[in-house]
Amino acid sequence: MMINKRLINSVSESKKYIFGNVLCQWISLCANIAVMGSIAVFIGKLVSKKVETNSIILLAVIAAVCIAIRFICTRLSSKMGYMSSKAVKKKLRTLIFEKILRLGASYNEKVKTSEVVQVAVEGVDQLETYFGAYLPQFFYAMTAPLTLFIVTCFVNVLSAVVLLVCVPLIPIAIAAVQTWAKKLLSKYWGQYTALGDTFLENLQGLTTLKIYKSDQYKNDEMNVEAEKFRKITMKVLTMQLNSITIMDLIAYGGAALGMIMAVTAFSSGSVSLSGCLFIILLSADFFIPMRQLGSFFHIAMNGMAASDKIFNLLDLPEDKSCESDIGNGCDIECKNLTFSYEEDREILHGINLSFKKGSFTALVGKSGCGKSTVASILSGKNKGFSGEVTIGGIPITEISEKNLKKSLTYIGHNSRIFKGTVRENLLMAKNADDNELWSVLEKVNLADFLRSENGLDTFINEGAGNISGGQRQRLALARALLHNSEIYIFDEATSNIDVESENDIMEQIFELAKTRTVILISHRLANVVSADNIYVMSNGNVVEQGTHNELLHKNGTYAELYNSQIQLENYAKEA
Ligand SMILES: Nc1ncnc2c1ncn2[C@@H]1O[C@H](COP(=O)(O)OP(=O)(O)OP(=O)(O)O)[C@@H](O)[C@H]1O
Ligand SMILES: [Mg+2]
Repeated sequence: MMINKRLINSVSESKKYIFGNVLCQWISLCANIAVMGSIAVFIGKLVSKKVETNSIILLAVIAAVCIAIRFICTRLSSKMGYMSSKAVKKKLRTLIFEKILRLGASYNEKVKTSEVVQVAVEGVDQLETYFGAYLPQFFYAMTAPLTLFIVTCFVNVLSAVVLLVCVPLIPIAIAAVQTWAKKLLSKYWGQYTALGDTFLENLQGLTTLKIYKSDQYKNDEMNVEAEKFRKITMKVLTMQLNSITIMDLIAYGGAALGMIMAVTAFSSGSVSLSGCLFIILLSADFFIPMRQLGSFFHIAMNGMAASDKIFNLLDLPEDKSCESDIGNGCDIECKNLTFSYEEDREILHGINLSFKKGSFTALVGKSGCGKSTVASILSGKNKGFSGEVTIGGIPITEISEKNLKKSLTYIGHNSRIFKGTVRENLLMAKNADDNELWSVLEKVNLADFLRSENGLDTFINEGAGNISGGQRQRLALARALLHNSEIYIFDEATSNIDVESENDIMEQIFELAKTRTVILISHRLANVVSADNIYVMSNGNVVEQGTHNELLHKNGTYAELYNSQIQLENYAKEA
């Protein structure tokens, strides 16, 4: 019940390490038996005053050799544990990584990013101990009592049987505690995360709480929560302590019973003194492995939960692999395009859009009307739409991700710049020489800045923390220009940046639009004036379409939006 065959088979490499681990522990056990045997025989000889120098030396040598073997085996078994942990981590993380790659850009339609991270990091870590410690202990806890049973049978069958029969009482006791523990633990975790959430929220909002003088009230509220948490923590600790006590009672009680049997057999004369001592010395060893397994039990439980999560992820259905390239012409057509992120909330209501090869099309409309949704469908990030989306006549669902990415570049308002040099960030797009890199940096007006720094080797920190928002966006544009694809989608690529950067970037976009298919999403309507065609969206519908002048004449939604923006900008200028 605590062994998952699929899990073990998916990391079949770890089998040999687990086997090796168990073998080392078993050899170590045998060595221990030999040491105890020597001691028992030695004391037996001492008492019966039949001590000969030769036999003492022999016993001492056996004991010394066995202790050395034990030492080596213990080292080896922890090494094996480490090796199997390593294999498990590597294998499972590779499986998860490859699965996400196969799911492709639209993976987050099926699974949340936070879940993937949690499963790949914490989930896999939990399995590390499952493979490295729990599984070997599981098999060892089976073999050790049997081995001891066989050996002690040669001395006294009755004691051997009594000891062996007591061993399974430990797992039975664990199982009994289990049902109760599970309920208590889930209550504990609930309380724990609730307290953590409230604490974090209150801490982050402390300034707000102070302003509204609500900090005392929140403080009292949290004290009540904390007291509840203290109580349940104590309950959990009591439970754990009790279950350990029960296991210890069984282990030591069983051992004591075995000893009593041995002593009884000795006093009735059916066992020699050495035999009796031998059983007394080894009786605790019957129980120790199982007792240890008991303390690994919560690890096994966590491991099982983690492996369920991992397999859920690995079993997610994948889209059929598609091979097509985008068709000739690169005209993009959306017919009757309908899309929802969640059931019963439709975002796009059967819209028709057409983006001709080499044309410059703008997509405008109020916040939340669905512009970015269209962009993410066209760039292959959302696949669960209905209706028809074709590029050059080929349905987008049949175009391979690689070909789509090659032909279409998406630039959002928050493009990712990676930690590393400027050169590294640019070379992602194309394997270009330094001259080409400089010429594109020149275009986006970054060259002067970079020359004053460290040139192409200027280092960019994590999250592009050491360059400005405008510089980051320009760098993203430079990278996009290098990519040299047929189709470009700009989704608010200039929002949140200064006017100067915006103008630089827009200039490059207009330049690009002369030769490529460009789709521009922008709040600032001044930017879309020169577009060949403008789609005006509202609440997931296309309400108007045409050139800037045509739309102004219509005096509809677009004209209203445009005029109010111009008014606002003029007002700002005057001010
Ligand atoms: N990942 C998502 N899950 C659920 N709903 C979403 C998701 N992304 C967007 N939406 C919803 O879809 C609708 C359209 O969002 P979209 O991002 O396409 O708007 P937009 O036109 O790009 O707006 P903005 O101009 O503010 O960027 C919104 O009502 C939004 O609440
Ligand atoms: Mg948007």
